[in-house]
Amino acid sequence: MDRRARLPGDFIVDVRRRTDLVSLIGEEIALKRSGKRYTACCPFHDDRSPSFEVDPVRGTYMCRGCDAKGDAFTWVQEREHLTFWEALVKLADRVGLSIPRAEPRTAEDVQALRSAGATASALRQAASLYAYGLDGNEQARNYLAKRGIRPETAQTFGLGYVRSGIHKVLTNRVVDPESIIRAGIVTRHDGGRETELLRNRLTIALRNERGHVVGFAGRHLYDQVGSPKYINTPETELFHKSRELFGLDLARRVIAETRSVILMEGYFDVISLHQAGERRAVAGMGTALSESQADRLLRDVTTVYLCLDGDKAGKRATIAAAKLLLSRMKDGQEIRIVRLPGGLDPDDYVREHGADAWRTELDASLPLSDFVLEVVCGDVDADAPEVLVQQALRSREWLPLCERCPLYGQALRQRLQRRLGIEL
Ligand code: UTP
Ligand code: MN
Repeated sequence: MDRRARLPGDFIVDVRRRTDLVSLIGEEIALKRSGKRYTACCPFHDDRSPSFEVDPVRGTYMCRGCDAKGDAFTWVQEREHLTFWEALVKLADRVGLSIPRAEPRTAEDVQALRSAGATASALRQAASLYAYGLDGNEQARNYLAKRGIRPETAQTFGLGYVRSGIHKVLTNRVVDPESIIRAGIVTRHDGGRETELLRNRLTIALRNERGHVVGFAGRHLYDQVGSPKYINTPETELFHKSRELFGLDLARRVIAETRSVILMEGYFDVISLHQAGERRAVAGMGTALSESQADRLLRDVTTVYLCLDGDKAGKRATIAAAKLLLSRMKDGQEIRIVRLPGGLDPDDYVREHGADAWRTELDASLPLSDFVLEVVCGDVDADAPEVLVQQALRSREWLPLCERCPLYGQALRQRLQRRLGIEL
């Protein structure tokens, strides 16, 4: 669907005109003034002399050393791996314009818009039924109370409860019954049998960055053998779990203001930390950190804190997330590892020790370089060549990741070389 076709033509021109390209690009690379233009080493290729030029009057950039060229839109598209539409939304937001609602052109556009609109509406209806279900279910309310979740927190996070029978109720409420299937609220199996995704579960609204419900997670209240603790909405036209970050709609402002973000593992970690006043907390959707999530975490911050669980799986996830973030961060940004005592997860920790203790833990967090040293060397401080070679090989899993942060890469290399006493 070409959504551009639905916009008045001068809207795009207007966004481009209002965008200060020098400050946009200057957020990422250091630009130097040179006459009417600005120059820098080209961020798109390995450039030693400044071949990259920004022309603020024309609103364009170009490189003499490679074929990089374009305007504010291509810049955002390339640097953040966004579609034109996403870049437009981002830049419009940046200059304070909202995307006008224009008339859809083609029959396909109309169809796709209707479909997504109906799906979104089914999700909204389900969210309010679930919330209503929580009001009416004492067990579920007690469960939350026992976990220390206050009613207003439950409301903020769109918590609910569902027994069963939502399919029928929803069918009577929505215009397009198929939207219930498309939203993932009801699963249609091969052969046509239909089942409700969540039954007898506490529900958590999964919202996108703009705060629209795109799916749900459901947790059972009591451990049940043979049934997973959480069930999440599958991939749908509106829910892409590798793109969303749980809690981001509530956290985004504070993240931008403090230029820092905290990645946790579980939904309840985020809910509980927000309740305790730590409103920079976000989490993935139960899957490993993806590139687009990493880029979003890094987008407007200087510090990314990783505070994943202390168990074995959590440690592995920390290494994987740290590597991915390192491969995408720029010089000037940093990653810090928060390790809570007793292997507690953030939710348990803050409930047991409170918000002040939490802040102390953040202050005591480990810079990535210390963490890498620990991962590479373990506790071993041997000088046996056999050991050193193993450590050197492990260093090589980290050093090449510093492509976008060459200064940090050099400093890390030197630190590791000093420690190991071999050239890496
Ligand atoms: P945890 O089990 O650590 O979740 O899994 P949690 O949020 O701390 O849960 P509580 O405190 O026991 O309620 C971390 C995350 O992994 C995903 C969820 O996103 C969860 O928040 N997960 C976990 C699933 O998707 N399915 C599961 O069965 C378990
Ligand atoms: Mn937990």
